[in-house]
Amino acid sequence: MRHIKPVRYDFAAWTHLIPESEIRRLLKFQVPYYFAGGKPGVLPLEIFAKILIDLGTGQLVKIARGQGGEVIDEYNYGPTAGIRSFREVLAERLIRKDNIPLGSDGWEKVIITSGSQQALYGVLDVLIDPGDAVITPSPAYLGFLGPAVKLGANVICVPTDQDGIIPEFVEEAIEKAVKSEIFRKPPEVLYVVADSDNPKGTTLPTKRRQQLFDIAERWNIVIIEDAAYREIQFEEEKRPAIKSFDKDNEWVVYVRSTSKEAAPFRIGYTVLPDAIREQLEKAKGYLDLCSPVLVQKILEIYYKNYIDDFLKKAVPIYKRRCKAMRETIDETFPEGERTNPTGGFFIWWESKKPFDAKKFLVEVAAPNGVVYVPGAAFYPIRGYQYNPDTKDFEKIVPKTNTMRLSYSYNTEDDIRIGIAKLGELLTEYLSS
Ligand SMILES: Cc1ncc(COP(=O)(O)O)c(C=O)c1O
Repeated sequence: MRHIKPVRYDFAAWTHLIPESEIRRLLKFQVPYYFAGGKPGVLPLEIFAKILIDLGTGQLVKIARGQGGEVIDEYNYGPTAGIRSFREVLAERLIRKDNIPLGSDGWEKVIITSGSQQALYGVLDVLIDPGDAVITPSPAYLGFLGPAVKLGANVICVPTDQDGIIPEFVEEAIEKAVKSEIFRKPPEVLYVVADSDNPKGTTLPTKRRQQLFDIAERWNIVIIEDAAYREIQFEEEKRPAIKSFDKDNEWVVYVRSTSKEAAPFRIGYTVLPDAIREQLEKAKGYLDLCSPVLVQKILEIYYKNYIDDFLKKAVPIYKRRCKAMRETIDETFPEGERTNPTGGFFIWWESKKPFDAKKFLVEVAAPNGVVYVPGAAFYPIRGYQYNPDTKDFEKIVPKTNTMRLSYSYNTEDDIRIGIAKLGELLTEYLSS
């Protein structure tokens, strides 16, 4: 008889430390009321179909004219940092719309990545050694926290309010890190989502943006400004990007995604200080060699000709969905506090009464067809919480009585029905 040996793989230490992403697990749920992942629900489908037809027709013409070589390049490997024509279109838009200081040959400063997620991972990968500190808001985007912890960072979570991270506490936390036995130096990185944060949906006022930039400059700390929701803003006037203060391109890594305003084609774009850019390009080379050229071509045409008209239609739809969620929470949820987003995809809700939002999700909400992300997922599994009262670091205690609710994917009607159902279930659960 053949002896069967049990298979045992010697996995890297981090695989045991870090659990599967809560969001990836929840993306698998098929339910009628999906308030979990930040999935765009308003997509420019007809525009993309038209771009594909035009692109394909143009390619057929080129092939017929004997210019097949140009077409071959569109179906091939490309430069690691992205194709020039696409980077030029993005650079022009970044200067025109957001005052990003790029200069005349600015396109060279824009790097294309495979999703902005790759930029977050790659920038951490080139800046962080095990034991280094990074500062994040409390709570923070788990797609940043996971890679940070995986790479050995100690996350220092700094309190937030209805306007986002509080700069005074950021500075106090830095001073504390410098004096503490654990770090004895300032953190390497400060991570923020200034426009419509994930998970809280808050937007940093201009004054706080300037204060954060000044702190970064004073302490030589790199700010990673994750601007995934920059294009999904409900108010006429946008606040200045923190990157716009970085005239010498020294302290801010400005990370943009195309996923929310185009489609999750897995393309992001990042503007960053030259030395960090060179390292990121090196790291990206090992991660994927390059991002898909044909997809960059499609997005180039979209950003050049179509995006503004599409956003004029899409943003008001998201705004109405947000309003529908806000109003239904206020009408049907038990006592608690919610944020009041002016853009992006998320509302954060905190119950007054203690409860375990994860247990409630698994046992009550999901079986009734409603899913959201329990707030505890947005706290790091390793690191510290800065406490402004004691002016000291303490153990992180995730707020289990919280939830992140996404209004991006469902229609207004479904939001009203699904959130009312959730409110009813929650009220009953918390009153028992
Ligand atoms: C704040 C934030 N950053 C980054 C990402 C990743 O986006 P991408 O699809 O560009 O990888 C997301 C996606 O939800 C996000 O919410």
